Amino acid sequence: MEMNGTPVIAIDGPSASGKGTVAQMVAERLRFHYLDSGALYRLVAYTAIQSEVGFDDETTLSGIARDLDVVFTGAKILLKEEDVADAIRAEIFSNGASKVAAYPQVRESLLDRQRAFRQIPGLVADGRDMGSVVFPDAVLKIFLTADAETRAQRRYKQLMEKGIDANISTLLQDIRDRDARDINRSAAPLQQGADAILLDTTSLNIAQAVDEVLRRYHEI
Ligand code: DC
Repeated sequence: MEMNGTPVIAIDGPSASGKGTVAQMVAERLRFHYLDSGALYRLVAYTAIQSEVGFDDETTLSGIARDLDVVFTGAKILLKEEDVADAIRAEIFSNGASKVAAYPQVRESLLDRQRAFRQIPGLVADGRDMGSVVFPDAVLKIFLTADAETRAQRRYKQLMEKGIDANISTLLQDIRDRDARDINRSAAPLQQGADAILLDTTSLNIAQAVDEVLRRYHEI
């Protein structure tokens, strides 16, 4: 792995914990780059469904991961020049992402692409294995979580705002299923590393969570 001095803040945690919003705001405040690694797994699921590739076909899925023609620009995610930023948030791709993410070959295919986001002056990376696998030398590792009910509520609100129809009890079940899959898989499972700081946002708002991450960063 190429090492350089460019600082990385790794923010890992379960689905819908708010880490995406927090990570983006921390990146903005520090004028750092931002990596939404979950979007990459969502894009693999999106492409697989569009190309009718089964979620049991690890080799083809890892080829899709390697060949993704994607450009992240501001809030846009251009897949072959089409903005799919909102489309990939739908539950079908959340669930698909969690399935394709269990394959070691898929994860391996996305490694270099993720590390390429590390550019001066720094990077805030959000995902499940940012601190454990992709950027083990991150200067700050945060494990950001909230209880499942709170996450389901937040996800519901987020989907409604985007005009995507949702049902709260289905969302809660989906979150629990996804947590179980992300935690119990053998390849880079979701877990709080010994060197990560726990940030439980159940009773924090976004601004408080952002301030806490920035406070920790400035403490280093
Ligand atoms: O953060 P998210 O909800 O967009 O992630 C979608 C799925 O991708 C999630 O269920 C687990 C997987 N994922 C992963 O395995 N590793 C990452 N670094 C990011 C996401």
